[in-house]
Amino acid sequence: MVFMAANQAQLLSKIATGNGHGEDSPYFDGWKAYETDPFHLTKNPHGVIQMGLAENQLSFELVQEWIMNNPKASICTAEGVGEFKDIAIFQDYHGLPEFRTAVAKFMGKARGNRVTFDPDRIVMSGGATGAHEMTAFCLADPDDAFLVPTPYYPGFDRDLRWRTGVQLLPVVCESSNNFKVTREALEAAYEKAQEANIRVKGLLITNPSNPLGTILDRETLRSLVRFINEKNIHLICDEIYAATVFSQPDFISIAEILDEGIDCNHDLIHIVYSLSKDMGFPGFRVGIVYSYNDAVVSCARKMSSFGLVSTQTQHLIASMLSDDEFVERFIAESANRLAKRYRLFTRGLSQLGIGCLKSNAGLFLWMDLHSLLKDQTFEAEMTLWRVIIKEVKLNVSPGSSFHCSEPGWFRVCFANMDHSTVEIALTRISTFVIQNMEAMAPLRRQWRQKELKLSFSSRRLEDIMKSPCKMSPRSPIPQSPMVKARTC
Ligand SMILES: Cc1ncc(COP(=O)(O)O)c(C=O)c1O
Repeated sequence: MVFMAANQAQLLSKIATGNGHGEDSPYFDGWKAYETDPFHLTKNPHGVIQMGLAENQLSFELVQEWIMNNPKASICTAEGVGEFKDIAIFQDYHGLPEFRTAVAKFMGKARGNRVTFDPDRIVMSGGATGAHEMTAFCLADPDDAFLVPTPYYPGFDRDLRWRTGVQLLPVVCESSNNFKVTREALEAAYEKAQEANIRVKGLLITNPSNPLGTILDRETLRSLVRFINEKNIHLICDEIYAATVFSQPDFISIAEILDEGIDCNHDLIHIVYSLSKDMGFPGFRVGIVYSYNDAVVSCARKMSSFGLVSTQTQHLIASMLSDDEFVERFIAESANRLAKRYRLFTRGLSQLGIGCLKSNAGLFLWMDLHSLLKDQTFEAEMTLWRVIIKEVKLNVSPGSSFHCSEPGWFRVCFANMDHSTVEIALTRISTFVIQNMEAMAPLRRQWRQKELKLSFSSRRLEDIMKSPCKMSPRSPIPQSPMVKARTC
């Protein structure tokens, strides 16, 4: 093995043999644990439930219905085959004009029609993953850096850094103010970079946030724009979760802030978008760079030949997203279903006394288990995470994999499973909590003090604790794993 590794290092490139992909993180380890023992309601009821995948699967039958009613949109149907040849041979990396027009319109609708987007500024890429890399290539050279508020999506370490050689520097955000991105935190990160002689080329934000599920308010957005404008660095806004906002307040796109007429060089602003979350199509790899900078649009367009969206997909998406009635119904219904699922989950957790950061967007919850840690360290967080994955059999993602500055937070995805799987997941958590009443006592005390900040009520847990402990027949937990986590 050692010989193999050394040999490969000589034969292959540094990129191929290095670990820049970031695969060795608990975020990806959790997926592997799921893949080796995937839960299935009947075939593997004691398997690992996948709660580490931010997928929007709640509204698929609406899309299927549209496809059935619009057979001409698919070129592999009797109704659509007449266009097969033209679509199959189309090669222009500007993209089909009707695709860009439909996506621009959809982006406006996903932002409440408060802003419009110019189809000529839309550049295609292979998902938001490709869009981020393309943006990094356009804006920065190897060793340059982007500031990124924490906690942030773990894929950024791969997408922006791996092949470009760019660095990501954390802007440390904290739970004490609900992870707000403050001017002080931005200045601190910027100064630290300067002291280390690192050239900062931009700030990357995700709005709505993955993993927090929160949105940035207008004043924060304005302050970010003022910050980047003063420093003359870029602002990349990942708005991939724009249409997942399921309750008030409304989502505010960076495009709205520019429309207000804020004093800012528009050449510094770029939006990354995709249909992976809002439409639930991660397999289609429809990614978008929308830049207000002509030179970036032009360069990105040349680069887009490395990650084009197939014309077959463009053709289908163009038809689907041009159907105003369908799009409006889909966005509204998807938000309704996400809201319902969010309520189901947060209520279930709250009845167990488990708190989450209050949020109104995304496909996940940011769950606070810090009081269950043996001590307030990331080692203790990993210990608890291993228990959750190996014994409770839920693949949730630990905060450390999102570069969270405080241990004890976990991201829990809730929109990638059906209703019965949700119930089983909640039953497992409930069994886990009941078995660990003793360990939960300090947690309940702390939560009582924090009740305003976290969206939960601990009264239900008191009831559960007074009632006789009932084990679920579907629970995979053999004995108190929390006690183990806190004593090992
Ligand atoms: C914030 C964020 N950006 C980008 C991506 C990548 O999306 P895509 O599937 O479009 O490449 C994800 C996926 O989870 C994400 O959460």
